[in-house]
Amino acid sequence: MANLTIRKLEDAVRDQLRLRAAQNGRSVEDEVRVILRETIQGPIGSVPPPAPFSQRASDPAPGASTGIIHVTLIIGGGIAAYKALDLIRRLKERRMRVRCVLTRAAQQFVTQLAASALSGERCYTDLFDAESEFDAGHIRLARDCDLIVVAPATGDLMAKMAHGHADDLASAILLAANRPILLAPAMNPLMWTNPATRRNAAQLQRDGIRVVGPNAGEMAEAGEAGLGRMSEPVEIADAAERLIRPPRARPLAGKRVLVTAGPTHEPIDPVRYIANRSSGKQGYAIAEAAADAGAEVLLISGPVDLKSPANVTLIAVESAREMLHRVEAALPVDVGIFAAAVADWRVASEGDQKLKKTSVGIPTLHLVENPDILATIAHRTEQRPRLVIGFAAETENLLDNARSKLARKGCDWIVANDVSPASGVMGGDRNTIHLLSRGENGVAIESWPIMSKEEVATALIARIVSEQAFSPGGSPA
Ligand code: C5P
Repeated sequence: MANLTIRKLEDAVRDQLRLRAAQNGRSVEDEVRVILRETIQGPIGSVPPPAPFSQRASDPAPGASTGIIHVTLIIGGGIAAYKALDLIRRLKERRMRVRCVLTRAAQQFVTQLAASALSGERCYTDLFDAESEFDAGHIRLARDCDLIVVAPATGDLMAKMAHGHADDLASAILLAANRPILLAPAMNPLMWTNPATRRNAAQLQRDGIRVVGPNAGEMAEAGEAGLGRMSEPVEIADAAERLIRPPRARPLAGKRVLVTAGPTHEPIDPVRYIANRSSGKQGYAIAEAAADAGAEVLLISGPVDLKSPANVTLIAVESAREMLHRVEAALPVDVGIFAAAVADWRVASEGDQKLKKTSVGIPTLHLVENPDILATIAHRTEQRPRLVIGFAAETENLLDNARSKLARKGCDWIVANDVSPASGVMGGDRNTIHLLSRGENGVAIESWPIMSKEEVATALIARIVSEQAFSPGGSPA
C-alpha cells in the first residue's frame, strides 16, 4: 500500500523516506509505520500502555467550549456500510458534526460523494492526500474531534487496531487517536466467533475501546444467521451520545426559556394572507437545545412545517398580535429569545369574506404596523426576562443595522445574520452569526464561524449558560 501512495509524495520527501528506511534496514512501509508511531507515542520501546479512553484526551476536544460534538466516522468495508449513511443522519439529529473517512473496501459499498453530501463535510479516503496530509491530516482527523466512531468495524479493522497497524488512513487515525473510540462491529458470525477476532476484541476492550453490538440476526449471506449484524444506526448514535454527553449536564434546569419562531401570517381575508420565507428552523433548534440543557421551554411558533422538539411546550399561532398575546401570557420567564420573523405590517381591516374580483379593478390593501414583540417585552418594567435576545436578519450593512437594532429594541443581545439570497440562510441549514451584546464597555461583537443551525443553537445556549446570572450558583441579575 505504501509503495502505491508513496509515488504521490513530493520527490524530496519520498527520497528522504527511502533513505531513512534503508538506513534503518526497514521496508518503506514499515518506516512509515514507525514514523507515525513515534510521532504519536514517542520512540518505540518506550510506548506506555494506553490509558483508558476516559483519561486519554489531554488537550481540550473541540466541543469542550462550544457544546458542539465533532465526530470522526470511519466507515469500514462491509455490506453494513450502507447503514453508515443513515448513521450520519442520526448523529446529526443529535447535534453532532460528522466527518467521514472511508476505507478502500468501504468505497466498494458507499461512495465518497454520498458520505460528504449527507455529512455536509469533506469525506477523506487517503493517508497520503496532497491536500490534507502535509499538515498531518490523519492526526487532525484523530484529534480535532470529540469521538471516533467506527461503523461498520470489520474483523480486519479490529485486527489492525489490536496490533497497532497504520497502513491506511482509517488505521492511522485510530492509532493516532486520543479521543474515545466506539466500534460497531459487523461481520459474518464465523468471523466474529473466530478465536483471532475474540483475542482482538479482548485486547481492544483492555485498551479502553467501547463497543456497541453486534446484534444477532439474519446475515446478508443467504441462509446465514447468528451474532454479527451491525447495530442499528439509532442504537449506535445513542451509544455515541451516552459516551460523549455525560448523563445530563442540565445547566438550565429550573429556568424558563421562551422562544418565538417561524413567520407570522397576516390575514387579508379568510383565504389569503401576507407571509414571509422564514422556515422556523433556527428557532426550533434553539428551543430544542434549551430543553436539552434542562430548561422548561415555551416555543411560540408561527405556521411552519416542522415537528415540535421533544420536551418543549409548543404554542402555535398565526398572526403577530396573537404571538404577542401568547408571549405576554407566558411571562415570567428567565430568558426570552425572539427568533420569529414577525411581519412588520398587517392589513388594517381583514375582510370577513373572500375578496372578489370586481369591476372596479384591483383592490388596494391598506397596511398598518404590527406590534413589535421583542421591543414590547424588552421595554417592560415588570416581568422583563433577565436576558432578552433578538435576531437581526439583514441583507446589507449587517453590523451597523444590528447595532442600531440592539439600541432601538432595548434587548440585551442581538444575534445578527446575513439573509441576503446569496447567503442561502433563509430556509437553508447553515448560518453565520455575529453576537452583539451590551456590556459595561459598550457593545461587544463576537463573530462565529459558519455553522449549522443546530450548532448555532447549541453555541447560543452554551453562551447563555456561561452568563453569570444563569450559571449554576450564579446570582440573578
Ligand atoms: O424584523 P426585525 O429585523 O425588526 O426583527 C428583529 C427582531 O425583532 C427579531 O428578533 C424579531 O423576532 C423581533 N421582532 C418582533 N416583532 C416584530 C418585528 C420583529 O418581535 N413585529
